Amino acid sequence: MKHVPVLLREVLAVFTDVNIRTFFDGTLGAGGHAQAILTAHPEIVRYIGVDRDPKALELAGERLKEFEDRVELWHGSYSKQIQELDHVDAFLIDVGVSSMQFDEIERGFSFRGDAPLDMRMNPDDILTAEEIVNRYSEKELARIFFEYGEERRSRQVAQAIVEARRKKRLRTTQELVEVVRPVATRGKLHPATLIFQALRIVVNDELGELERGLKGAIERLNSQGRLAAISFHSLEDRIVKNVLRDAKEELTVLTKKPIEPTREEMRLNLRSRSAKLRAAEKK
Ligand SMILES: C[S@@+](CC[C@H](N)C(=O)[O-])C[C@H]1O[C@@H](n2cnc3c(N)ncnc32)[C@H](O)[C@@H]1O
Repeated sequence: MKHVPVLLREVLAVFTDVNIRTFFDGTLGAGGHAQAILTAHPEIVRYIGVDRDPKALELAGERLKEFEDRVELWHGSYSKQIQELDHVDAFLIDVGVSSMQFDEIERGFSFRGDAPLDMRMNPDDILTAEEIVNRYSEKELARIFFEYGEERRSRQVAQAIVEARRKKRLRTTQELVEVVRPVATRGKLHPATLIFQALRIVVNDELGELERGLKGAIERLNSQGRLAAISFHSLEDRIVKNVLRDAKEELTVLTKKPIEPTREEMRLNLRSRSAKLRAAEKK
C-alpha cells in the first residue's frame, strides 16, 4: 500500500463524471487514492482525509502538500468522523491495516517479528491484543477465532492460550506464535495468520466500524453522490454487500458483483490479491 493504492483506476472510475465539492476519505493511509482523486477532480473544495493512525496522517500530509488548501486531515475513526458532517458528495474507504503498519514490527500486527502484542491502529485506544489474549475467557477467545479468523481449530487454540497464560502472561507476538503454532490449522498460510487477523479485527472493532461507517455515509450522501468501499476478506465484503442491499430504497448499487483487481495488478501488488470494490449512488 505504501506507494501503490489498490484498485486505483477502478476507484477513479466510480467518481468520474460526478461533480464533487466535499469528498470524505475515511482511510487516508499514505494518501495514494487521495492524490489521484484530487488531481482528477480540481472542483473538490474540501477533501477530508481521516485516519486513526496519526503517523499515516503525517505522511499523507506530506504527500498531499500541493493540495494543502483543499485537504483537511482528521484524526479518529471514520464511523465517528462522518457524523461531524451534514452532507458529502463522495465517500471512500479502503479498510484494514496498511502495509506501513504491518512493516512497523513494533506495532505487533505481524507474526514475523517479535513485538509487544499491541495491534492498535490508534495509539489512543485502550484495548490491545495483549489484553484480549490474557483476559478473555476461553469461550470468548474460541468465538473470536472462529468468527473473525474462520479458524477451524478455534477451540483448541483458545484452550492452548488459556493453559499457557496460567503459567505466564503472554506479552509478545512470538510468545503467542509459539502457543498457537502446534494447534492451529496447518495449510498454506502461517499457522498464526488467522489468529492474528481475528485479534486485529477485535482490537480495532473493524467490522463494527465498517457497518456503522457505511450507514453514516449513506445518510449523509447528497443525491447523486457516490460511495466506494474496498474490502479485503469475506467477512468485510459480506458487510458491504448487505449494508448496500439493505439501503436499496436510498441507493442504486453500481456493482452487481464486486470489482476485483486485474491479474496484472495482483502480480504487481500482493496486497491487492483479495481486494473487492463495491460502489453505489444515492438516489
Ligand atoms: C489500506 S490503508 C489506506 C490506503 C489509502 N487508501 C492510500 O491510498 O494510501 C488503511 C488505512 O486506514 C486506516 N483505518 C483503518 N480503519 C480505520 C477506521 N475505522 N477509521 C479510520 N482509519 C482507519 C488505517 O490506519 C490505515 O492507515
